[in-house]
Amino acid sequence: MKFLFSILCTLLLLVANAQKNYLTESKQERDSRMEWWRDATFGMFIHWGAYAVPAGSYNGKEYGRIGEWIMHSANIPILEYEKFVKQFNPIQFNAKEWVAVAKKAGIKYIVITSKHHDGFCIWDSKVTNYDIMDASPFKRDILKELSDACKEAGIKMCFYHSIMDWHQPDAESKKDYTHQHSVNPNFAKYREEYLKPQLKELIEKYDPAVLWFDGEWIPEWTEEQGRDLYNYLRNLKPDLIINNRVGKGRSGMQGMNKYKDAAGDFGTPEQEILEGTSDSDWESCMTMNDTWGFKKNDNNWKSSETLIHNLIDIAAKGGNYLLNVGPTAEGLIPAPSVDRLKDMGYWLDINGEAIYATKSLKKYKEGNNVKYTVSNDGKYIYAIVTQKSDQPVVLKNIQITHGTKVHMLGVKKSIKHTHDNNSGTLTLEWPKKLPCDHAWVFKIEGTPKN
Ligand code: GLC
Repeated sequence: MKFLFSILCTLLLLVANAQKNYLTESKQERDSRMEWWRDATFGMFIHWGAYAVPAGSYNGKEYGRIGEWIMHSANIPILEYEKFVKQFNPIQFNAKEWVAVAKKAGIKYIVITSKHHDGFCIWDSKVTNYDIMDASPFKRDILKELSDACKEAGIKMCFYHSIMDWHQPDAESKKDYTHQHSVNPNFAKYREEYLKPQLKELIEKYDPAVLWFDGEWIPEWTEEQGRDLYNYLRNLKPDLIINNRVGKGRSGMQGMNKYKDAAGDFGTPEQEILEGTSDSDWESCMTMNDTWGFKKNDNNWKSSETLIHNLIDIAAKGGNYLLNVGPTAEGLIPAPSVDRLKDMGYWLDINGEAIYATKSLKKYKEGNNVKYTVSNDGKYIYAIVTQKSDQPVVLKNIQITHGTKVHMLGVKKSIKHTHDNNSGTLTLEWPKKLPCDHAWVFKIEGTPKN
């Protein structure tokens, strides 16, 4: 009896611990899990941590292009860097205000750095004291406040989490005498007893919709560990979406996978946009100036027009745009970022129909100034024109549905148009008064020509 009982117990334990393999899910399962993300198209990246205190300068000298790397680029010892953490007291932080800025901009999801490479954690973590509650004077759970505000506003909350960690002794790759990084022999301890428990904690406490990994290039990390982590996390939260930096598949800054079946749900081009469409999901992450984390002297802001044109280009190629802000050590999103986000929101209020919940066409553009998207139901084609001219717009790629009207988004009266059966061209007149700046959308009932 005793023997049978112990066998039964073992069996029950096995069943309870059985890990499902999510790497082999069907296309259908995948499509339904990815649906909200594909439709969302526009997300906000937030790089925020103790690096906002030095804001790009250390001992009177400015370092590197990107502010969040200052610990590395200025070679700051751990104990010295911890002083910035002790000064990190962003009393002007107001989660509701940040989320309101995002909401007005037309942002559908926010990805914030729970932990960047410097290792400092901006939530109340029971796994470490190197967090906002124990190591900084601020003592407010930033991720909790933001998650609550996002929930209220209907914005999805997501976390960026660095695999590389410059603060954990078991994670850091040491440089050997040839200045090559050598593998940290204790890395498995960091992974199993620190990284994974923290991610579990993040999922259980804040229920993030996406986990966005980075720092996977360290020599300790392998595709196998990435696959294991992917499955571990999806077993905790089956509908979780995870970027391709969870494994080793990413091909540099271009960001798409270099081999088939690499772990992760989407490619991550960084500071660039794909040349064309792709069969895989992808998201371009980009800065508004030149840094991710706040740098006080970086004023190289892109214009609102450039940002709107990027969004159009990305949507037309079937990707998502993850646009970064780097808040200050006081807790404010820099005013130039807020201004640009306002402009984008204004444009999207009128034209969002052509961006969200759309698909891409094989011929996603015509000439240099027209990009196409298609409504998910396939009924409408949106011709997005990024340059105004005195001449009518001439399109060759669209077969308009006979007898139907053409509209410009934001304009009541329908658009005068002619279709030339011989040449197959559709000619669209501009309306007298344009509804916005930067780009204009003709909404056409029709089919693409191949
Ligand atoms: C790079 C940088 C990092 C930044 C990330 C955003 O990988 O290391 O600082 O967070 O890009 O994609």
